[in-house]
Amino acid sequence: MKETILITGSNRGIGLELVRQFADDGWRVHACCRRPAQADALQALAADNPDIQVHALDVADEGQIREMASQLQGQPIDILFNNAGVYGQTDAWFGNTDSGKWLYCLRVNTIAPMKMMEAFVDNVAASQHRTIATMSSKMGSMADNGSGGSYVYRSSKAAVNAVMKSAAIDLQDRGIKVAILHPGWVKTEMGGPNAEIDTATSVRMMRKTLSLLTLSNSGTFFDIDGSVIPW
Ligand SMILES: NC(=O)c1ccc[n+]([C@@H]2O[C@H](COP(=O)([O-])OP(=O)(O)OC[C@H]3O[C@@H](n4cnc5c(N)ncnc54)[C@H](OP(=O)(O)O)[C@@H]3O)[C@@H](O)[C@H]2O)c1
Repeated sequence: MKETILITGSNRGIGLELVRQFADDGWRVHACCRRPAQADALQALAADNPDIQVHALDVADEGQIREMASQLQGQPIDILFNNAGVYGQTDAWFGNTDSGKWLYCLRVNTIAPMKMMEAFVDNVAASQHRTIATMSSKMGSMADNGSGGSYVYRSSKAAVNAVMKSAAIDLQDRGIKVAILHPGWVKTEMGGPNAEIDTATSVRMMRKTLSLLTLSNSGTFFDIDGSVIPW
């Protein structure tokens, strides 16, 4: 059976490159995005490769997550990749935090990865690789925080780290491995043009880390070079 990956937020940025590289390697790809009709780059990839299936999925909408899980019931998913994310509030400095934007950021970056895991855990457990990968950020590390600020984004990624660490423990018995990934500082809409690496490099390096994931190092917060980021 073909190896299969499900990727959220796959219409642009790192998610789109994940689709490209896994599809190039012969994987079946469930490529999720909020608005398939406007996802031109993703649709162009899918037009050339019947193993790329495009799905409409807003991860902030639990009903859509449940609906998609029922459509894929019984189909093994080797890698569930929680990639979709938002920065939340660009001006979230002390004295200026916006509760509404903060809650939405937590919904997308923290709660949605949990809801995705809960919805697709049986698909992952039925697969060969049994892997869940979630895009975190070094900005969620307490130890790495030397500059303060960014309350909204930092807290959403620190919180998703806690979620994934618990899942790594809870899903160990089912043979499911969990990787918490920092993709580097990547040239995307979120990373900006001055970022250090392109999406192709980021995805290539994360795939190497995933290839070395085991039940023993499950739940680790990995830097882009595969080293461990302190919480
Ligand atoms: N770039 C970096 O330097 C960097 C560093 C550390 C961590 N990260 C993380 O890496 C991941 C990918 O980021 P990126 O740099 O590729 O950012 P990006 O270019 O801004 O792409 C974000 C992706 O997430 C999708 N998304 C946002 N909200 C969504 C929702 N409610 N439902 C479904 N999809 C949603 C976007 O879809 P739409 O087009 O519909 O908005 C888009 O496909 C994020 O989790 C980010 O936090 C990035």
